[in-house]
Amino acid sequence: MEPAVKVTHLKKSYRQGERQVQALRGVELTIARGEFVAIMGASGSGKSTLLHLCAALDRPDEGSIEVAGQKLETLSERQLTQFRRRRIGVIFQQFNLIPTLTAFENIALPVQLDGSFNAQHSARIGELLRILKIDHRADHRPDALSGGEQQRVAIARALIMEPPVLFADEPTGNLDSNSANQFWTLLEDAARAFDTTIVMVTHEPTAARHADRVVVLRDGQVSGEFAVQDFDDPGALAAHYQTIAT
Ligand SMILES: Nc1ncnc2c1ncn2[C@@H]1O[C@H](COP(=O)(O)OP(=O)(O)O)[C@@H](O)[C@H]1O
Ligand SMILES: [Mg+2]
Repeated sequence: MEPAVKVTHLKKSYRQGERQVQALRGVELTIARGEFVAIMGASGSGKSTLLHLCAALDRPDEGSIEVAGQKLETLSERQLTQFRRRRIGVIFQQFNLIPTLTAFENIALPVQLDGSFNAQHSARIGELLRILKIDHRADHRPDALSGGEQQRVAIARALIMEPPVLFADEPTGNLDSNSANQFWTLLEDAARAFDTTIVMVTHEPTAARHADRVVVLRDGQVSGEFAVQDFDDPGALAAHYQTIAT
């Protein structure tokens, strides 16, 4: 079976005034279908850049990215937009919900934009709201929801098109530790129900414990990786991570 994500020799640099910053210097990464992978690394190691490129939000300078069997570099801007809408889910640290829409309407938005809303989507939203334990909040607008509830609405919005892959960049960065723990558990439940591969960026070893595998970036390259099940003690996981990240 083809992998969910395959990244080959990926390079990306940015201009910062007079300087050229190499954010990614040849990243190689393969993620299997159904895997839950945490991308970790120090601030500035290239995590967000890698995630943005994989989520088709930006283009690399060099290298290849394949998501769910599709090579992104072969797509036109138009095709990329459609691919992003239909085949990729994203969650960011900021919840990015539309303040004037209810939770239900926010979740339905990607399908509305795609012009394909039907009864099946309505039923799927109901299922997502139940799995994420926010069914009693469906008619509330974001300002009436807690941060944790808003981020769960963002999970549902990311999964409404049933994308094969979901990318998340520090999604619990704005949540307290209780809401964050609940977020990870509910995300796992939702991903399992919808058979979604998860690639998440985090710098918190506690969050990484929910993943199957941790891939560590250092200075724009993969510096190591390990299976989470090899560490039943969170302290040992964090210590091992530090040896690869620095
Ligand atoms: N849009 C941008 N313009 C200029 N430099 C950027 C931009 N995005 C990221 N960088 C630089 O690229 C490097 C990697 O950044 P980033 O991918 O955001 O790392 P991380 O998410 O691991 O903190 C950093 O040196 C950062 O300053
Ligand atoms: Mg980042």
